[in-house]
Amino acid sequence: MWYNNILETIGNTPMVKLNKIVKDIPATVLAKIETTNPGNSIKDRMALKMIEDAEKSGKLKPGGTIIEGTSGNTGMGLAIAAVIKGYKCIFTSTDKQSKEKFDALRAFGAEVIVCPTNVEPEDPRSYYSVSSRLEREVPNSWKPNQYDNLSNSQAHYEQTGPEIWEQTEGKVTHVVAGVGTGGTLSGIARFLKEKNPAIKIIGIDTYGSVFKKYKETGEFDKNEIYPYITEGIGEDFLPANVDFNLIDHFEKVTDMDAALMTREIARKEGIFAGNSTGSAIAGVLQMKDMFKEGDVVVVIFPDHGTRYLGKMYNDDWLRDRGFIKEEKLTARHIISKKEAQDIVTIDCEKTVLEAINTIKSLNISQIPVTQKGMVIGKITESDILTSLMENPGVKSQTVASISTAPFPFIDLNTAIDKISAMINKDNIAVLVEDDNGKIEIITQYDIINAISA
Ligand SMILES: Cc1ncc(COP(=O)(O)O)c(C=O)c1O
Repeated sequence: MWYNNILETIGNTPMVKLNKIVKDIPATVLAKIETTNPGNSIKDRMALKMIEDAEKSGKLKPGGTIIEGTSGNTGMGLAIAAVIKGYKCIFTSTDKQSKEKFDALRAFGAEVIVCPTNVEPEDPRSYYSVSSRLEREVPNSWKPNQYDNLSNSQAHYEQTGPEIWEQTEGKVTHVVAGVGTGGTLSGIARFLKEKNPAIKIIGIDTYGSVFKKYKETGEFDKNEIYPYITEGIGEDFLPANVDFNLIDHFEKVTDMDAALMTREIARKEGIFAGNSTGSAIAGVLQMKDMFKEGDVVVVIFPDHGTRYLGKMYNDDWLRDRGFIKEEKLTARHIISKKEAQDIVTIDCEKTVLEAINTIKSLNISQIPVTQKGMVIGKITESDILTSLMENPGVKSQTVASISTAPFPFIDLNTAIDKISAMINKDNIAVLVEDDNGKIEIITQYDIINAISA
């Protein structure tokens, strides 16, 4: 058996039981994994449905250009369908989205215009406004408008809802999904509530979005709106596809919780999912008291982790946003905080008097002793004092005669607590070779300096 083209492979996505990540929840929690769609996201379903409905109504004509404001996934679905059906695509998106998403769209021949995130939807620079302007200017063009085009939620009423019903054999009690355009959750909700009105529908929202407050108070509060990081969910307006009567509850999740949970899902369940999936699972865990034994909770996993490799799956990105704490300080960090200065050493053939003069003139209390440039020992203030007390004539003897075992060498990645434990009365410093092979000395003073810097 084969498919006639890639579009026929859309839908019938697998449902997978979650285990470790939801171990504190007595219910069965099932992931509906939408990444097996050809564009690796749930949006393939509605993209194709919007195109087919527009073809039927005559809004989209042969050879036409599809113009849409999209954060990437809808664009991918549209771009794939456009390849098969012979349309051109121009997408507008925001500079908040992963660059990988734009590159993926361009791979299918689409044109992508990146617009600023932090402007009002009505602003002529916003990605909504730019796509509307292009629709007026480009001949034979059509704008699907995924927010207000009800073919979007209809796709989920016709496909995703029935799939969930069948895969759970009608046992589903809750559905949880991030809400962006609202198409996914509203379409699923309409189908499932027709089957069983007791099924609870829960929307995941972000801090910085208007949905939750609007649902709970009926007020569209502009004060709720501020920039946020989570991609794909939450909005600063009310799309027609969000059916507030069908969504029973909205749960808000922070950017940090969403980002960290996205990584946890890969590590605990082996499922490589996108940012809004992390948000949904973090939301499920926040609401854990809502679920009881026997419940069957279906969580939508809308897209794939590869689109977020430069973001939640990148430690530097997380660290820059304060989402993970700085790791323990290491020797590398300590020497980076030291003033650039060549280490002072003394050759073992020099006299003790020369060592005393060096110590005095540089105001230091220890010197590594070298032989042909290699560190072979050390000489310290207290070694000198003890020797002088025993024998004042030691001044004219060689450094080698009173030098003791060298300071221990450590690795650049040795943690600060280990280094500090190595430094004591008998061993007042450690040595480390930097990335260029230069030897540096670390004393107690340097550790204090690095911690307090
Ligand atoms: C990654 C991701 N998750 C969730 C959503 C939300 O789905 P919907 O727009 O159907 O509400 C979107 C929508 O853009 C998305 O891209």
